[in-house]
Amino acid sequence: MCGIIGYTGSRLVSDILLGGLARLEYRGYDSAGVALEVGTGTDCALDVVREVGKVASLAKKLEQHDASSTCGIGHTRWATHGRPTVENAHPHVSCDGRIAIVHNGIIENFAELREELSGRGHTFRSETDTEVFAHLVEEGYAATHDLMAAVRDACAHVVGAYGLAAVCADEPDVIAVARKDSPIVVGMGQDGAYLASDIVALIDATRDVVVLEDGQFAKLTPKGIEYTDAEGAVIAPAVTHVDWDVDMAEKGGYPDFMLKEICEQPRVVRDTLVGRLAPTGELDIDELGLSFEELNLIDRVYVIACGTSYHAGLIAKNLIEGWARIPCEVEAASEFRYRNPIITPTTLVVAVSQSGETADTLAAIRDARIKGGKVFGITNVVGSPVARESDGVIYTKANKEIAVASTKSFIGQIVSLSLLSLLLAQAKGKLKTGQVKMLFHELGDTAAQIQHILDTQGPAIHEAALACKDAASALFVGRGMGTAISYEGALKLKEVSYLHAEAYAAGEMKHGPIALIDPGFPVIAVATKSPTYDKVVSNLKECEARGATIIALATEGDEDIAKIAGHIISIPPVRDCFSAITASVPLQLLAREVALMRGCNVDQPRNLAKSVTVE
Ligand code: F6R
Repeated sequence: MCGIIGYTGSRLVSDILLGGLARLEYRGYDSAGVALEVGTGTDCALDVVREVGKVASLAKKLEQHDASSTCGIGHTRWATHGRPTVENAHPHVSCDGRIAIVHNGIIENFAELREELSGRGHTFRSETDTEVFAHLVEEGYAATHDLMAAVRDACAHVVGAYGLAAVCADEPDVIAVARKDSPIVVGMGQDGAYLASDIVALIDATRDVVVLEDGQFAKLTPKGIEYTDAEGAVIAPAVTHVDWDVDMAEKGGYPDFMLKEICEQPRVVRDTLVGRLAPTGELDIDELGLSFEELNLIDRVYVIACGTSYHAGLIAKNLIEGWARIPCEVEAASEFRYRNPIITPTTLVVAVSQSGETADTLAAIRDARIKGGKVFGITNVVGSPVARESDGVIYTKANKEIAVASTKSFIGQIVSLSLLSLLLAQAKGKLKTGQVKMLFHELGDTAAQIQHILDTQGPAIHEAALACKDAASALFVGRGMGTAISYEGALKLKEVSYLHAEAYAAGEMKHGPIALIDPGFPVIAVATKSPTYDKVVSNLKECEARGATIIALATEGDEDIAKIAGHIISIPPVRDCFSAITASVPLQLLAREVALMRGCNVDQPRNLAKSVTVE
């Protein structure tokens, strides 16, 4: 996730920016940069310095530059649009080099704006969506000679999310700040005005901050901060006093990264879908680089992945076969690479990897390409080996995931795989444009459904966790989508709480695992309303008869389930094909609660690494 920092005052700015960027690095980075105002009055100019890699590399580069500046902005980038290169790193500048911008968020209409601006003579130097902001502000400034007015005007043309800071060499010592759907905090320190995208970068300078709300703007000068609304009217937003330490601030006030990332999932759904549905109702996934005619020729799909990403593949199998009617196999990459799978030029191999660098997944990609298959990557890391080595790639927009156990990237993977499945179905003529549009909107609705679960199910999940915490083992069961969800639920519980868990298709219980059940044995069931609901309930009755403690994930309003389940976690009604997105969330929370009750470190489970770059 990108980070923004800015300062104007009496202190030297370079050290402040570098210190702030270093604080923001925990959110992920692939490049960093600053824009410093050097010289005074009419001699003022911008010195823009950018570097790929860590903030330390930027610091080294800055040693060669004028260090006298007292006003500047900085950015650490986690690439979303465009590869991690110096050209794509922020700040981005106007054609005349007198305006510089740093931006977090996504500009949905950047392609149209870029075309319009190019038509009016602007030259673009990067592949990023952000650069359109620099050119829009340049046009606004030429008309008004007022940086704040130019920024307000640029924001009025942009559709999307932004946390933004801009400097202009013609208005020395002023920083213009704007916010919509991407956090920005500002505050006055003893020696000047500060801004950042995250409180963690400000807490050494000030603890009294204003968290800008959507549509609010701030003008920072060494003497003070003026707040305005979208029309330019002066406003007086509330000041918040922060008494977090750095560790708490990095976690955004959450006790651990796992919870923070679970709570980010509504945003992940929204961001992964931004700009994906054209007004015509066609899906817009250009980066896959295949025409509808070429997609229509695909007659077999393999999803290859490891761990949680493999479970996202199990969910995708249901969607690809259900919607596009293409046979789909899901394989652990570590198995796939040592088999001799049948791959032809009309085989599509979908490689799913949060980190984009899992050794087994990469080896399987290489093998599939040698055999002549087309490979699509689904990854969270722009420019990662999976992205580079695939023929096309969809990014999951989860932003940097810090907790070792995947949560938000899993949801991003399911959403991305849903998009791919809809695209295949559209190309194959199995779903009409209207149906795709309806499903797309229902997919988007899961953001609010997740939020509802987060807001309401805490107490029920806590009670369920108490029922599991002392068990030696637990079973997760479901059918259809519910089976795939169960696999992920069991993995989450195992890895963060060290409680042994297994997942089974509920219909398989009486072929063996039911022997495990004795009084009090926890059975966690995905029993939401689905075509196999009645069958799941019958299977649960068999467990109940043997004394199992049943924890049911059930659809809101289902009163019958209370007759057999000791604990109920409610999920809003959702079409079965999207149930994995909602039902996975309480299972993540359950795993975390059990782990905490058992005294485990949920962010760094023993023996596990975030990226598995060895076989
Ligand atoms: C579990 C988890 C792992 C990863 C697996 C693959 O919570 O995070 O099972 O899913 O190691 O990693 P990626 O997706 O980076 O290829």
